[in-house]
Amino acid sequence: MTAAAAAVLVAAGVSAAHGADIVGGDPAGPGEYPAHGALFIDANGNGTYEGLCGGSLVGSRYFLTAAHCAVDNQEDTLPASSFLVVLGVTNIADPPAANRFTVSAAESNAGFDPFTFRNDSAMLRLSQAAPSTPLRVIRTDETLKWAPGTTARIVGWGTTSPGGGGPTSDDLLEADVPIVSDAFCGLAYDTDFDAATMVCAYDGEHDTCQGDSGGPLMVPDGAGFVLVGITSWGFGCADLGFPGVYTRLGAPGVNAWVMARF
Ligand code: ARG
Repeated sequence: MTAAAAAVLVAAGVSAAHGADIVGGDPAGPGEYPAHGALFIDANGNGTYEGLCGGSLVGSRYFLTAAHCAVDNQEDTLPASSFLVVLGVTNIADPPAANRFTVSAAESNAGFDPFTFRNDSAMLRLSQAAPSTPLRVIRTDETLKWAPGTTARIVGWGTTSPGGGGPTSDDLLEADVPIVSDAFCGLAYDTDFDAATMVCAYDGEHDTCQGDSGGPLMVPDGAGFVLVGITSWGFGCADLGFPGVYTRLGAPGVNAWVMARF
């Protein structure tokens, strides 16, 4: 699951030992991504949040993330009490109480396969509505929005260096990375890449990394963005020839699953 053991959080204080960031990113401005949140995960129920992922508010009470952020080693969805969602901050160290949201229900996509990472989506219902503006989820007919060559925005608190390690920061980072063709992604990953449930972005320099999972791959839409992917996996981070792989939200199966849940 979330390789982001990077962020070791104490339940009492939710202070991150260190946060992290996208590889090749720049600091995000306050309020720039109101729907983007941090997902702290206490997978073993010991009161310490040892996992970090990202996610997007898609409805006032619904937070979309990756299934691999929400399941245990047996593939069972973790209890709702395992999660803490933090919204409305760029710095995730010790967030104010008003920015913390507990979760009342968690559901992972039943089609999620932990060996192939197909259908990597999960929906968390917040215990109370969040005041932030939700992010719109792409429709299946908006194919041009994720056409190869489209510049997409990635954000997150994940690790910052190629390979998945490196210096970290508690501040949210952002980067732009072009969506690439299925053929290109297939060249890199062969049959591990499943175009029916995944879409890739790559420039060899900017990438999501460990701890960014669950967060958005989004493209410009009017004055803001629309959500086209969920950060899912990749070989290393920003490794030459290896794209970042995202859950394809415009794919019929994944889209229907998400749309029916908020
Ligand atoms: N699986 C990682 C996580 O749990 C995300 C990896 C994204 N990797 C990449 N090269 N784009 O945070």
